[in-house]
Amino acid sequence: MRNPNTAMTFQISKQETTTKPEMYSHLALQLRSLLEGEHDFIANASNTASLLYHSLPDLNWAGFYLHKEGELVLGPFQGEPACVRIAIGKGVCGTAAKLLSTVLVPNVDEFPGHIACDSKSRSEIVVPLLRDQQLLGVLDLDSPSLARFDDDDARGLNELAEIFITMSSVTRE
Ligand code: SME
Repeated sequence: MRNPNTAMTFQISKQETTTKPEMYSHLALQLRSLLEGEHDFIANASNTASLLYHSLPDLNWAGFYLHKEGELVLGPFQGEPACVRIAIGKGVCGTAAKLLSTVLVPNVDEFPGHIACDSKSRSEIVVPLLRDQQLLGVLDLDSPSLARFDDDDARGLNELAEIFITMSSVTRE
């Protein structure tokens, strides 16, 4: 399915996969197809958040915080309303932004400084979005289950984040 400017009829296809790597390979194909022909950063971030939220099991939040004027500001997401601004170095998102590396939190109650936007969240993963060593923002996923995310998720989500960055324009307001 292409992504024409007029009719948008993208169908999320849930594949009966056996492993997480297979699931993420399938999602990578779907994401490329979904974003094809469009480079607007916010539009693509919105569709990426929707695809992840509706495809990955056991999530209560999926979305972006964008790096603006030295802090993280809430971007496109799916889930309950969330905290708007997060300082670099604060919470799981701010920590991933500061370290410029993926942060995997099996139990948010054991992460010092975790910012509880949604009381249902029990575990979390945050992937920094980098282009030319510049921090564009972070991709944040929350789950109501403990230890929902593992290294396969980290690898898969990094690949999806890379697809999103590559297919989207860095210029955004
Ligand atoms: N828990 C995050 C805040 C963002 S929400 O989970 C949507 C954190 O500690 O940075």
